[in-house]
Amino acid sequence: MTTVLTNPDITDDERRARLYSGQVLVYSASPESLALVQHARDLITELFGGRDPQTAQFEMDVEDFAALLARLKPTFIHHPESKERIREMLASFGCDQDQTYFDVPRLRTSTSNDYLTSGISYAFHPHRDTWYSAPFCQLNWWIPIYPVVPENVMAFHPRYWGDSVRNGSRRYNYYEWTEISRPAAAAHIKTDTREQPKPEEPVQLDPQVRVVPEVGGVMLFSGNQLHSTVPNTSGRTRYSIDFRTVNLDDVRSRREAPNFDSECTGTTLRDFLRTNDFERMPEEAALEYEGMVTADV
Ligand SMILES: [Fe+2]
Repeated sequence: MTTVLTNPDITDDERRARLYSGQVLVYSASPESLALVQHARDLITELFGGRDPQTAQFEMDVEDFAALLARLKPTFIHHPESKERIREMLASFGCDQDQTYFDVPRLRTSTSNDYLTSGISYAFHPHRDTWYSAPFCQLNWWIPIYPVVPENVMAFHPRYWGDSVRNGSRRYNYYEWTEISRPAAAAHIKTDTREQPKPEEPVQLDPQVRVVPEVGGVMLFSGNQLHSTVPNTSGRTRYSIDFRTVNLDDVRSRREAPNFDSECTGTTLRDFLRTNDFERMPEEAALEYEGMVTADV
């Protein structure tokens, strides 16, 4: 069963418990989420000049478009206002500012008609973030910047909540990936040769669940959900914001989603910043996550 709750009136503790059990939550746009969206729109508009960023792909060479994204994405990630807006949004969600840590927000794009599907605008094959060294208590927040439709969002593959997919996570080490592979993303315009954990058996993409939030609406899900980028046939480039959170109490007590099939090494926990002062995750907490994980089922 896949449960999608909209605007549930629950505490953050209850919300996390529901997400760890595989439920998906959707919240309406709020002043705080719209402020984050507006910040992203300001950066996008400035970069694209007079062009409509949702259709500029049809007027530009793919190399030029990729070059624009290669400037836009790091600007958004590192912009101090991005962090401030996230902090305000998390506060509005009732997340404990001392216990909730987040990683820097990403600006994602999905171009239409297979225009640009690798490198800087990677089309994600079915995966769990936990194949990429994410902790099992990681929660993903996903917010559309412009209107989205079922043909350009992301999909969940709920058949695999509770079931394993043979995958390449056993060869994935987070430190190798960040030191060697990631800076090369912008160079991979047409093909992507970097090794990422992928399914190693056919994945049944259906049944699938596609949630279509309003602009500034917030979709929340466990990083352990099997999810993918929908092939974009909408005729518009999709722009969305996502970021991840963990709760330090949950990190320490291993209150988390079950492991179905992840076997990677390393941890992304050191990337997470405390909401109230942007201090890094305590090293002793991250150290506990260094080893190879083993599946619970
Ligand atoms: Fe993901």
